[in-house]
Parts: sequence; C-alpha cells; structure tokens
Amino acid sequence: MTATAEVSAVPDLATLQQRAAQRAAERAGGSDRLRGHIVCDGLVRIFKTEGVEVVALQGLDLVIDRGELVAIVGASGSGKSTLLNILSGLDTPTAGIARVADYDLLALSARRRLSYRRRVVGFVWQQTGRNLLPYLTARENVELPMRLAGRLRGRAGRRRATELLEMVGVAHLADRRPGQLSGGEQQRCAVAVAVANDPEVLFADEPTGELDEATGADVFGALRTINAELGVTVVVVTHDHAVADQVRRTVAIRDGRTASEVRRTARIGEDGSTELVSEEYAVLDRTGRMQLPAAFVDALALRERVRLTLEPDHVQVRPGQEQSQSDGGSAE
Ligand SMILES: Nc1ncnc2c1ncn2[C@@H]1O[C@H](COP(=O)(O)OP(=O)(O)O)[C@@H](O)[C@H]1O
Ligand SMILES: [Mg+2]
Repeated sequence: MTATAEVSAVPDLATLQQRAAQRAAERAGGSDRLRGHIVCDGLVRIFKTEGVEVVALQGLDLVIDRGELVAIVGASGSGKSTLLNILSGLDTPTAGIARVADYDLLALSARRRLSYRRRVVGFVWQQTGRNLLPYLTARENVELPMRLAGRLRGRAGRRRATELLEMVGVAHLADRRPGQLSGGEQQRCAVAVAVANDPEVLFADEPTGELDEATGADVFGALRTINAELGVTVVVVTHDHAVADQVRRTVAIRDGRTASEVRRTARIGEDGSTELVSEEYAVLDRTGRMQLPAAFVDALALRERVRLTLEPDHVQVRPGQEQSQSDGGSAE
C-alpha cells in the first residue's frame, strides 16, 4: 500500500526508545532476549450472551518486543479492551496463542494466573477512580502494592514510592489524596502505582480517555519516561489517533484483527538534525491475508472480488468487475 510519509521533529523520541531497549536488555540478560515479549497468533475471543455469539477478536496477530512502547488504536468496539483484558490475565481467550513473558495465557492454572497478575503485569484503567484508593495519599497508594507483596517495607518502600512519583512528575503532590489531584495528576500517580512492584509489562486501557488533550499528553509523557527509565514494555490502548505522534509504533485494530501499523523511524536530515519519519504498513498474517484500508476500498468501489497481479516488485489490486469500454454496458 502507499506509504504516507510525514516528517516532524520530535527530538527525544529516538533517544528515549534507545534507552528503553537498553534497560530492557539489562533486565532480560542480553539484547538477544528482546524478541517477542508479547506474542499473539490467531487470537480468538468469542463472547456468548443469550445465545448470541460476538466474535470480539477474530484471529489477531501481534508481536511486541521487550522494552517497546506501543499504542493500539481502533474504533469503539474493535476489540481493544478484549485484547488488553486477555493480555493482563483478567480474561481467557477462546482460541489461538497468547504469550507474555513466557506465560502461556491459554493454559494458566489459577495459582500461576495470580502470580502473573501480581508480579508480571501492571494496569492503568481509564476511570481515574478505579486506579487509586481515595483515602490514601499519592505516596501511600504507591507503597500499598509493595506492602501487599511483602517487599520494600518502611523506608526503602517510601524511597521507591518517591522515586516513582518523581519519574511521573507528581512528587510534589505526594502527600495529597486523589480527591485533591486533577484527573491528569491522578493518572500519572496511577502509572507509578502500576509499576510499584516492578512489572515486566504495563498495560493502560484509554488512560487519557477522560482527560483533555494537554493533560493527556502529560500522562503519555509519564508512560514514556517509565518505559525509558525502567525498561518496562508498555502497551497503551487509545481511540485517539493523535497519539501516533507520541510513540514509535502504533498498531491499528479493525474488527478484532490487526489491520495496519504506523512506524516512526529516526533519520538524519539534510541539515544533520534527527527527524522522525512515519510510514504506514498493512499487516500481513501468516496465511497471507491482509486488510485494505477502508478509504482505498471506497475510492475504487471495490466489492466482493478483486484481481491481483504479481509484478516484479509489487502486487497490483484491481476491481474484479471491469467496465466495458465499447458500449458502456456492464460486463459480468
Ligand atoms: N463481556 C462481553 N460480553 C459480550 N460481548 C462483549 C463483552 N465484552 C466485549 N464484547 C463485545 O466485543 C466487541 C469488542 O469490545 P471491546 O473489546 O470492548 O472493544 P473496544 O475496547 O475496542 O471498544 C464489542 O462488539 C463488544 O460489544
Ligand atoms: Mg475499550
């Protein structure tokens, strides 16, 4: 498909991603262990309610490497929350492969599921009220998961909580309760809570959904810092396409499948400065299927069948029904 190339100067994104990869490699014990931290292959989730089946995920493929920061975008109802609930161990898939950090999510015992949810993943919800306990201060909220896990009690726990609140930019508000914080401050605090026990992966389901644009950008900044400083793999779901500017890789989900991907790569410009170039790709699954962008389908009024022609270096897609040139009648 045609690549949409757009150039903008976001100077520190490449550096941040590089640092995240370096930290992730340190955690994993070598850069050769970065591949496939999260792997979904032909992932299917069918919900059955009152005899009606809803196929929320229909063969979704996705590979995310250790230390990556990936945004998942898609219209409401496309299966984003279903995917995140599966990956965070809250829900079980119907079929396919879902693996995170060597945990097979289709075959978890109750006990392993609990340890997975406690130790391996952290989660930030859209509803600010769901992330923090209202009667604890910001610092106490961050300390709580460490205390429940029986690690870093007392002064060490307090020090780590302060460090994390510093990373997300709300250390000066450490003694306030959630009710005394703005929505954006609460969500940044929630990011600190979610990584308190040093998880390998952080999932956030529309963490900026209830915030205005500027405040949302601060929350994204917090996620980027956590990713770079701790080497945590971060997956953020959002319906806001503007976040593509904030991350290196954006995956688009349509009808329960990964449809396309935007990758931003750093290039050295003519004047020697670093610029980020974004390119859009269609996703090809293992069996060779891909989804055409809706705009392309509409532009050529493509329906039911298309003609494919293999050219030396590309594939041509043409409408299946050719218009007759001579008499204007339609050829079947
Ligand atoms: N628990 C459920 N029971 C029945 N259908 C569900 C359930 N959860 C989600 N769905 C359906 O699955 C589809 C995907 O939903 P969801 O993953 O929440 O989408 P998104 O987060 O992208 O808006 C929707 O059609 C939704 O109605
Ligand atoms: Mg959702």
